[in-house]
Amino acid sequence: MLTDKFGRNINYLRLAIVDRCNLRCTYCMPENGLTWIKQNELMTDEEMLRICSVFTKMGVDKIRITGGEPFVRKNSIELIRKISELDGLTDLSLTTNGLLTEPYIPELKKFGIKSVNLSLDTLDKDRFFKITRRNSFDKVMETLDGLLQHHIKVKINTVVMENENIEDIIPLVELTKDLPVDVRFIEEMPFNGGDTDISLKWNFSQIYRYIKEYFPEIQKIQDPKNSTAYNYNVPGFTGNIGIIAAYTRSFCGDCNRIRITPSGILRTCLYEGTGINLKDEIRMGKTDEELKDIIINSIQNKPKDGWEAQKESLTASQIHQSMATIGG
Ligand code: GTP
Ligand code: 5AD
Ligand code: SF4
Repeated sequence: MLTDKFGRNINYLRLAIVDRCNLRCTYCMPENGLTWIKQNELMTDEEMLRICSVFTKMGVDKIRITGGEPFVRKNSIELIRKISELDGLTDLSLTTNGLLTEPYIPELKKFGIKSVNLSLDTLDKDRFFKITRRNSFDKVMETLDGLLQHHIKVKINTVVMENENIEDIIPLVELTKDLPVDVRFIEEMPFNGGDTDISLKWNFSQIYRYIKEYFPEIQKIQDPKNSTAYNYNVPGFTGNIGIIAAYTRSFCGDCNRIRITPSGILRTCLYEGTGINLKDEIRMGKTDEELKDIIINSIQNKPKDGWEAQKESLTASQIHQSMATIGG
């Protein structure tokens, strides 16, 4: 078992397999001027697999594949297959924007993928284009259909934005009436101004009040352990509703996660940009035992409350970099 010095059991690895994305969501990436990780800095499949295998031997039993967009990586399905075969892994999940995902659904099912979190901020084609700067709404809906047809658990991630997709909130809640999907409304982490003190209109309470007005019967349900979302259900509806207070709430107290960037940096906290580069250690010839020691030492530096400690000094671009390249 991997435990930090505050007694938190680290069993959840978020692995970003690529930094690139085929969308340009306005809250995440600018259209141009991005610099990507160089090919030789990107971990190979073997390196990623080796790192995952060391972690699973140390007690990590949940891996979430993120990006950028995971399917932008060449042959990512093969990498996902190999990760799914690791001993000790009980939950392999994926966060995707759904553009390239649909053809891989039968394989994902075969690999026993536990859940797919699908980014979808609107049910309207024009708004989709405005938010993501790409015309790919139909592809995402095909992916949603395909996942449901294959009985794969789907959680839709919707970032709530004033003047962008407020009119989508109720239709998205209604999606849960007949479909076994969870829809999670996420507070936007505001990167645009550089002001971390920005007041967020569509915070948790505002989102909750808005939904409650249309569905007064909405009920709190039990949150799974370490859930990022506060979860609700409209009685009689098949799926559930979640609200993720990504900006106003600290997840640090019972944080069970660590992150690996596409270039191999072990980040013990979303808000700490630096960390040991495990790929470089592998390329220097370190054995698994040596990697384990490095990881144990690094975990000891996991901050108690990274958000509290960093929020005053973090620049928008630092947080932004975190979110865009390691998928939150
Ligand atoms: P599951 O709990 O396994 O469903 O995953 P998740 O909700 O952690 O993953 P997902 O990749 O779908 O992320 C959903 C939202 O939660 C995104 O907006 C993430 O940026 C945000 N998020 C994930 N982890 C953290 C965290 O540690 N802190 C904060 N503030 N936000 C996070
Ligand atoms: N604020 C909140 N959530 C964000 N995501 C990406 N950028 C932001 C942001 N600025 C979410 C997307 C995606 C998930 C991995 O992170 O909705 O589904
Ligand atoms: Fe791509 Fe996700 Fe960022 Fe949108 S939010 S640009 S889908 S990484």
